[in-house]
Amino acid sequence: MRTQVAIIGAGPAGLLLGQLLHKAGIDNVIVEQRSGEYVLGRIRAGIIEQICQDLLDEAGVGERMHREGIVHHGIELCFGGQRHRIDLRQLTGGKSVMVYGQTEVTRDLMDARAAAGLPTVYEAANVQVHDFDGTSPRVSWQKDGATHELQCDFIAGCDGFHGVCRASVPADRIQTFERVYPFGWLGILADTPPVSDELIYSNHERGFALCSMRSHTRSRHYVQVPLTDKVESWSDEAFWDELRRRLDPEAAESLVTGPSIEKSIAPLRSFVAEPMRFGRMFLAGDAAHIVPPTGAKGLNLAASDVRYLSRAFVEYYRDKTEAGIDDYSRKALRRVWKAERFSWFMTSLLHKFPDDAGFGFKIQQAELDYLVSSAAASTSLAENYVGLPFED
Ligand code: APR
Ligand code: PHB
Repeated sequence: MRTQVAIIGAGPAGLLLGQLLHKAGIDNVIVEQRSGEYVLGRIRAGIIEQICQDLLDEAGVGERMHREGIVHHGIELCFGGQRHRIDLRQLTGGKSVMVYGQTEVTRDLMDARAAAGLPTVYEAANVQVHDFDGTSPRVSWQKDGATHELQCDFIAGCDGFHGVCRASVPADRIQTFERVYPFGWLGILADTPPVSDELIYSNHERGFALCSMRSHTRSRHYVQVPLTDKVESWSDEAFWDELRRRLDPEAAESLVTGPSIEKSIAPLRSFVAEPMRFGRMFLAGDAAHIVPPTGAKGLNLAASDVRYLSRAFVEYYRDKTEAGIDDYSRKALRRVWKAERFSWFMTSLLHKFPDDAGFGFKIQQAELDYLVSSAAASTSLAENYVGLPFED
């Protein structure tokens, strides 16, 4: 088997890249280790930046998002028992974000890929990447008792944090930067109405809390928990009680509780691998970087890499120039590090740090007060939250 671009991983990064390349007439095959149902079973964040929405439209998969997604023009910061609105639209000259689950984005991309009849190999075992340093890279895997091989011009490593692509790079050619946070997020999904029209990010002495949503009838909430906590020991009732304690009196009063549909604990991590290109193999999305979810940047950053990478491939095939692929890593990393900075900033601002004797909490309160009372500070938060511009 032969293709132009072999894409490893059918998460949002791989699927979106495949769709954009297809639109540009570039052949691609996706090789994914899990089943389609497994990929769709993962519940993740749900905030989509304007530029990510534009890219989904460009890929021809934005229709349902515009129909079912909810446009948000602001967010609320809760601290000291009060909520303060950050008016994203006013502070950014009209920009907003879309509330639409990553699971739905993935589903739309999968459906479009199936409708276009594009090749995807699911449940591929022992996926390996070969010869990406030469001119004839290959991908191999096992399925149905046989070994398969795919020859290609390029490999796109869209295989997430635990993928095989980054792991196949010799250690002396890659540098990694990491921060692991001393807490996790316990999240629940429930068919209850959202607490407020907009997201509430709460800094509280007991720890961080976030009230989010998937629709007008489905809410998604999180509370900060110690990494040692087990999800089994959190009853739904205990979760709702803890969330209520971390909100302002009005939000606490209006909180509607109900049985959880999903409940899980996720650790928080910042991670970047440099560079993002190794010969004819390119990393994109979680394969190259992880952000803590506080800034809602994970999916958006994956889309941003894919935008740069798809344009670089189009330039290579259509304009016969390698300038785009040569510049991919530099361009992508410049935007990645800004999103890493913002996600780290939001995480540091809003969480309770276990080793803090009180000074850190006081600084957080001062910073939050400054943020909501200074136009310069709130503009900085808003422009990062809606997504920084691309370098073209
Ligand atoms: N071979 C083939 N596929 C693999 C391999 C492998 N060795 N290892 C992992 N994969 C697959 C995973 O099963 C998964 O479906 O690669 C896919 C990677 O998808 P994601 O983890 O969703 O990563 P990405 O597409 O970069 O999406 C980034 O997901 O985790 C969130 O916060 C993140 O929202 C961001 C988005
Ligand atoms: C979510 O809805 O899951 C969500 C929203 C905003 C975040 C993180 C997660 O910052």
